[in-house]
Amino acid sequence: MSSSKDARGACITGIGCYVPEKVLTNEDLEKMVDTSDEWIVTRTGIRERRIAAETEAASDLAYHAAREAMKKAGIKAKDLDQIIVATATSDMIFPSTACVLQDRLGAKNAAAYDLTAACSGFIYGLSMAHSMILTGKAEKILVIGAEVLSSMTDYTDRTTCVLFGDGAGAVVVEPCEAGKGILATYMRSDGSYTDLLYKPGGGSRMPLTAERIRQGKQYIHMKGDGLFKYAVKAMVSAARKTASDAGLTTEDVDYLIPHQANIRIIEGVRKRLKLTKDQVIVNIDRIGNTSSASIPIAWCEFERDHPERVSEGDIFMLVAFGGGLTWGAVLYKK
Ligand code: UT7
Repeated sequence: MSSSKDARGACITGIGCYVPEKVLTNEDLEKMVDTSDEWIVTRTGIRERRIAAETEAASDLAYHAAREAMKKAGIKAKDLDQIIVATATSDMIFPSTACVLQDRLGAKNAAAYDLTAACSGFIYGLSMAHSMILTGKAEKILVIGAEVLSSMTDYTDRTTCVLFGDGAGAVVVEPCEAGKGILATYMRSDGSYTDLLYKPGGGSRMPLTAERIRQGKQYIHMKGDGLFKYAVKAMVSAARKTASDAGLTTEDVDYLIPHQANIRIIEGVRKRLKLTKDQVIVNIDRIGNTSSASIPIAWCEFERDHPERVSEGDIFMLVAFGGGLTWGAVLYKK
């Protein structure tokens, strides 16, 4: 790397992803709760999702994604100086999933930490990595979104269990010439809407007891319609702001990689940003909503399955929205 620390960019040099083998289809869910394939497809766009094995925790999914990203970047674990894992389903409350992963990778020279921003976690992690690289605080950073949402999903609640899936996506971020890679980042939160999407039990506010488990406090609680109202508006404004911070407009965007929460939300964002369907990367039909993992999985699959569609200089807009509320975007130039 030749660029100096005071005039350099931050580029993704490797991307990887992993989804568990087990597929949970809408037909399977029809046998578990009062729902139908037709309702799920028309209301969400989801046809199937992946579910982790009982032996798989967030760090296990992260491990596979990380290995692929590091291989593509051509770096060894000991070269990493930071590991950032965005997750809402950490292996344990502490130590961090990033520390568990660090040990498994053998990344002995890294600082490892988790970041909690629900579905916006990967965007927040990438923003953090961008700043660390630009300020010269780090040279090689692994950023991962990894979730085992099935571990806190109530499979008797049809309003949530049809939505979520498990998986992980990872990128390696390294210095590169200025004007390439991450062009701009944007992060926002509004903590006054915590109750729209949360897991009430298992933290210091509400330690789990047998009674609270009986009440289902260990599960995701969601007010879907409340979230829906904010999602499109927040993602569109984040995309516009991020493009303008980079001196561009959303018309300059070649590809949009939105958080995969609902096809109707994705379509709402696409139409407002005046993008064609071909410009929007969608895998919600096969993967469902994997929270912080959804954007890196979609990006990784797109680059793997359609390398002919990606050219040097292409502009990618990554945009997310989720519990917290949190939202944000990253503008990226290949
Ligand atoms: O990833 C983080 C951010 N998450 C989001 O942004 C999620 C945003 N929200 C959504 O994607 C949608 O609100 C949902 C997909 C969760 C729900 O779709 P909706 O169109 O908002 O449906 P709804 O909640 O208004 O429910 C409509 C009806 C209700 O029945 P009634 O009260 O009208 O009789 C629900 O009980 O659909 C019923 N329903 C279902 N029916 C069959 C809810 N879930 C199901 C289901 N199968 N799985």
